[in-house]
Amino acid sequence: MAPPKGPTAKIWRDGTLVDWADASIHVLSHVVHYGSGVFEGMRSYATPTGGAVFRLQDHMHRLHDSASIYELDLKWTVEELCQATVDTLVANDLAHCYLRPLVIRTGQTMGIYGQQAAVETFIICWEWGETLGHGNDGGAHVCVSSWRRAAPNTFPAMAKASGNYLNAQLGKLESKRNGYDESIMLDVAGNVAEGTGQNLFLVYQGELVTSPFTAGILHGITRDSIIRMARDMGIGIREMEIPREMLYLVDEAFFCGTAAEVTPVLSVDRHLLGDGTPGPVTTRIRSAFMSLVTGRAPDPHKWLTHVPVTAGAGAK
Ligand SMILES: Cc1ncc(COP(=O)(O)O)c(C=O)c1O
Repeated sequence: MAPPKGPTAKIWRDGTLVDWADASIHVLSHVVHYGSGVFEGMRSYATPTGGAVFRLQDHMHRLHDSASIYELDLKWTVEELCQATVDTLVANDLAHCYLRPLVIRTGQTMGIYGQQAAVETFIICWEWGETLGHGNDGGAHVCVSSWRRAAPNTFPAMAKASGNYLNAQLGKLESKRNGYDESIMLDVAGNVAEGTGQNLFLVYQGELVTSPFTAGILHGITRDSIIRMARDMGIGIREMEIPREMLYLVDEAFFCGTAAEVTPVLSVDRHLLGDGTPGPVTTRIRSAFMSLVTGRAPDPHKWLTHVPVTAGAGAK
């Protein structure tokens, strides 16, 4: 995994572009102790005409939903957050980067109930290339984690909350410790959920198969994009409960997400999928997705927000 390339010049902090070094918080902040934070992960791509953020509005809507579930007082509208994102990219003159909007209870208070403590919003961007080795060896070798996704009505999966990623870290640590790139997490019933920070698609009998929201997954924006693109491409798609053993029987599988983009899964628990190289359906979807996000193919759903930064700045 390529390490993040920071620092960049500016971070947006509640309406002000501050220097990277000044975007700090106090150790007594509520979020440090109790995890009271929600966030987003977005990407901007270098296109022939400058930068373009993929599905900016949808990410900011999800940020609002996450904040609302945890009653975090997010004082910026979706439109204001979208403009702030553009301002942050322009201030850093970055076309190709990862973006991290973050809403955290930074007020200094102890005790679980922190409603009186201040909430701050940040937007950070930095260059972050591939996150799951989908460049060199062509994909990821994964295991099924012994840790489960949180049960319904425990940690709400529809909130992209910082605390959810403690469970994700257990899955990731287990995979790395055992020599894999990534884990697939099962839900509380033992059906397939998703990766630690990615959604999962299988290719079974010529169709795409993916888990439903009720499997404790994040309702990924890349997942939604791939479902719509597959429909446009005439590829069949089924959302269904996926028994674990199906992972070993499929022809192909791939992870998708903002950080992972489209990453082929080459083996699960050392069972090779197909011939252990990226399969034709995965390759077709990956190529269509990358062409769209980089502005090299039409954007029929109007998913790109174009940003006037130096064309190609930071491009990979
Ligand atoms: C747990 C989890 N699932 C799925 C995804 C993919 O979501 P998206 O495509 O919106 O980035 C992410 C990444 O944000 C994630 O953290």
